[in-house]
Amino acid sequence: MHSNSGLVVFYVQLCIVFSIIHAQPGPGQKIFLSCGDQKGGNDADGRKWEPDAKYLVNSDKTVETKAETKDSSLPSDIPYMTARIFNAETSYKFSVNGSSRIFLRLHFYPSSYPNVNISNSYFSVNAGGVTLLNNFSAATTAMALSQAYIIKEYALAPSNKNDLSLTFKPSDKYSGTFAFLNGIEVIETPEMFDDNIEMVGVSGEDSGVMVSATTASMETMYRLNVGGQFVPPTNDSAGLMRSWYDDSAYIFGASSGVTNKANTTIKDSGLTGVLAPLDVYNTARSMGPDPNINKNYNLTWVFEVDANFTYLVRLHFCDYLYQKVNQRVFTIYINNQTAADTLDIIALAGGMDQPVKKDYVVNVNGKQDNKEIWVALHPNVNVKPEFYDAALNGLEIFKLGDAKSNLAGPNPEISDLMLKQMELNNKKFAPEKSYIGAIVGGAAGGAAAFGIAAAIIFIVNKRNKKQHGDSVSWLPLYGHSHTSATTVSGKSNGSTNISSDAAANCRFFSLAEILQATKNFDESHVIGVGGFGKVYRGVIDGDTKVAIKRSNPSSEQGVNEFQTEIEMLSKLRHRHLVSLIGFCEEGNEMALVYDYMGKGTLREHLYNKNKVTLTWKQRLEICIGAARGLHYLHTGAKYTIIHRDVKTTNILLDDKWVAKVSDFGLSKTGPNMNQSHVSTVVKGSFGYLDPEYFRRQQLTEKSDVYSFGVVLFEVLCARPALNPSLPKEQVSLADYAMHCQRKGTLDEIIDPQLKGKVNPECIKKFAELAEKCLADHGTDRPSMGDVLWNLESVLQLESDPTSVNHSPAPSGSIEYDNAEQINQAKLMAMHRNTLSLGSDHDENEQSEDKPDEIFSQIVNQKGR
Ligand SMILES: *[C@@H]1O[C@H](CO)[C@@H](O)[C@H](O)[C@H]1NC(C)=O
Ligand SMILES: *[C@@H]1O[C@H](CO)[C@@H](O)[C@H](O)[C@H]1NC(C)=O
Ligand SMILES: *[C@@H]1O[C@H](CO)[C@@H](O)[C@H](O)[C@H]1NC(C)=O
Ligand SMILES: *[C@@H]1O[C@H](CO)[C@@H](O)[C@H](O)[C@H]1NC(C)=O
Ligand SMILES: *[C@@H]1O[C@H](CO)[C@@H](O)[C@H](O)[C@H]1NC(C)=O
Ligand SMILES: *[C@@H]1O[C@H](CO)[C@@H](O)[C@H](O)[C@H]1NC(C)=O
Ligand SMILES: *[C@@H]1O[C@H](CO)[C@@H](O)[C@H](O)[C@H]1NC(C)=O
Ligand SMILES: *[C@@H]1O[C@H](CO)[C@@H](O)[C@H](O)[C@H]1NC(C)=O
Repeated sequence: MHSNSGLVVFYVQLCIVFSIIHAQPGPGQKIFLSCGDQKGGNDADGRKWEPDAKYLVNSDKTVETKAETKDSSLPSDIPYMTARIFNAETSYKFSVNGSSRIFLRLHFYPSSYPNVNISNSYFSVNAGGVTLLNNFSAATTAMALSQAYIIKEYALAPSNKNDLSLTFKPSDKYSGTFAFLNGIEVIETPEMFDDNIEMVGVSGEDSGVMVSATTASMETMYRLNVGGQFVPPTNDSAGLMRSWYDDSAYIFGASSGVTNKANTTIKDSGLTGVLAPLDVYNTARSMGPDPNINKNYNLTWVFEVDANFTYLVRLHFCDYLYQKVNQRVFTIYINNQTAADTLDIIALAGGMDQPVKKDYVVNVNGKQDNKEIWVALHPNVNVKPEFYDAALNGLEIFKLGDAKSNLAGPNPEISDLMLKQMELNNKKFAPEKSYIGAIVGGAAGGAAAFGIAAAIIFIVNKRNKKQHGDSVSWLPLYGHSHTSATTVSGKSNGSTNISSDAAANCRFFSLAEILQATKNFDESHVIGVGGFGKVYRGVIDGDTKVAIKRSNPSSEQGVNEFQTEIEMLSKLRHRHLVSLIGFCEEGNEMALVYDYMGKGTLREHLYNKNKVTLTWKQRLEICIGAARGLHYLHTGAKYTIIHRDVKTTNILLDDKWVAKVSDFGLSKTGPNMNQSHVSTVVKGSFGYLDPEYFRRQQLTEKSDVYSFGVVLFEVLCARPALNPSLPKEQVSLADYAMHCQRKGTLDEIIDPQLKGKVNPECIKKFAELAEKCLADHGTDRPSMGDVLWNLESVLQLESDPTSVNHSPAPSGSIEYDNAEQINQAKLMAMHRNTLSLGSDHDENEQSEDKPDEIFSQIVNQKGR
């Protein structure tokens, strides 16, 4: 039906080599192939992978090879450390049950391999007549998503043929190009899709159009365990080896509802396991307990997809809270169109604890540059349900093949910032072999695609250490406080290069406006001083209060950081991040204009005697807000961003006490090439610094989690992270609180203002969470998503102690007590190292917070 030249070639080859086909179809056949591997073996989950050679129709134009470097994020050596390289069109052939749908997973590890340059690999992949990939560059994709490896999953429609051919073809658009592959999974599954699926957003003549999915081949774009934790392949049901990811990175806006877990037993109807494991159905995200709040917001997820394709959106539901019809009824919007006006899970499923799924089809037609799928839930108040609430347990998005049986989209784009970074790194590593880890440097992407599970190790950092000692690195190595900040010798020769993209997101201010706003930078308007320069309070547009950061005209680093901050911040919009309104660049003056935070810093409300004491609930809400902002930085933004300076003075509060994370944008773009070395600069603030970062100089988002743990203790104990006036063992809050927590004497150091006013169970949970954040090893710390989840459950417990049973995140969920769990935690956290963002602090600020003796004391803690 879809003949093309590739298939013709294939049929010819088939006649010649039919005898080498070994695999016989069996019920629910599963094949796991480690490509280019002569022995095969077990992966970390104990799954057995066999060599791929016997499935090859012809291996003449292929090479078996081994990766030269091993990324620390690889879940196991098999299948990633070996690869097959295809220098000409080559097919695999599998005997399959022609009546079965087939899950096909392709694993790519674009590392360095002998005698090839992985950046030159562009190829297409075709499976049984369906184009899966075209002009695919695994290196570009990995770089753009900042993943070390890529897993592509397809669900191929039953073909009615007894064999499946999988063809790799190097692109003919480039010379000297090749295809490569590390692993293949072929899994036969029962049909899990239906005919007659409603199309959302069509009106007029086309309305009522139904789409049949039983004949459609698909690519899995997203698969989420909504309100729950990562479910690894080995925990999936029906042996389908799917991965189910945490949904929190995809939540849009500040209102993310609440998560909860069933305390009842989910009923397992025959097909349940095929659709999703029970672990997906027994957790959910709902809107929250307050009907008035729920009436006023949509619980929304946003997903990036390829334009000009049709998508199947599958929603999984299971109501384990309510028993009756009309207790909870809600509307589902997909891409701002009503998909279901009145969805009542109980009615749909036929009862409590019954899993059910609902599918919709939506066309993303690329008009107005739309490349997103929005899924939003809102209580339907018109039908007067008993509770104004909505809930979702799981969500999958599949891309449907188009009329030409094509599923291939373009390679994801690498951002300007990342290109800049690559350029710097390439120059630096020019004499060496290109290696993706080095190319990627530290720039990292967001949680953008299916199969996110990767980390990029600090190759750059390590190499630099080997080659040049400590002196050269675009990464700020750990240093001492008296070296000066990065010096950029490339002076501003006129105007900076703000990208049009960033400029479009930002307002441009004239110098006159800035001068007027700050009364000519009047000293009485100064509200802070940072590495960049002074921060002024100001008023624009008559009555809008703003904070204006003025670049210190004598600061050489200004230009670069100014640009980077605009580039980064203009892309970061989140309720819990301080937002950039615009910038001014005129003459020698550069200034950034931010929202003004009426209530100042969290710190001044914790132990500044002049201010009202925050209630426990307020404190929890502030922590939740800040956690949400950080979680967004880690997983939700286009780039993963490690804040690196999480502390109570960087958590600001607006007039309504909404917490906003600030000071997250001064990214390091590395030393200028004219410069022989970059001075090392202290990053972060003492008292909050991750000890693992000291030891290994590897920065991960878990360093932020550590600092946030210190913030949590600070909130609980209302004392500074460092207090040099106390006896030695109490100076560092992190150490002292951990000591007390272990001895069970934490009560003694808790803020007296809280004593007796707070549910002790809440304090206990809160302290346990803070303790986990302070775990010595990053891998043992929860992800920011877990932290958020646990804080929400503490708040829920505080607000409504009777809801304990439904409260989210059993505390065990963040206890990682064996290697496998740690590995999964790593996956869950999408462990990535990143472009080092964070602010340099000027000498003043450092010495204010951290006197020298404290510094050395902390530094000497190394071995703790
Ligand atoms: C082939 O797949 C169909 C549908 O999944 C199934 O009913 C049938 O039993 C399978 N046949 C064999 C020989 O396994
Ligand atoms: C996976 O399943 C095992 C065995 O049932 C269980 O102990 C483990 O907690 C599960 N892991 C996750 C992440 O759900
Ligand atoms: C589950 O929680 C509900 C509400 O808190 C409670 O009424 C019910 O008894 C619990 N069920 C079980 C099996 O614990
Ligand atoms: C849905 O509406 C929001 C604003 O209401 C808009 O930002 C978004 O782009 C819309 N989404 C789609 C897919 O049209
Ligand atoms: C929820 O989303 C729908 C569809 O985009 C929109 O019409 C509606 O105004 C939204 N409601 C709220 C409260 O944001
Ligand atoms: C999608 O299709 C439209 C109209 O055919 C075209 O203008 C647009 O460039 C396409 N977008 C992509 C990303 O291919
Ligand atoms: C192939 O992909 C690369 C990288 O994404 C892109 O620059 C190039 O234009 C594409 N080539 C074709 C022929 O589509
Ligand atoms: C690999 O190819 C890329 C793109 O063609 C090129 O920039 C890079 O220098 C090459 N690396 C090596 C080591 O040849």
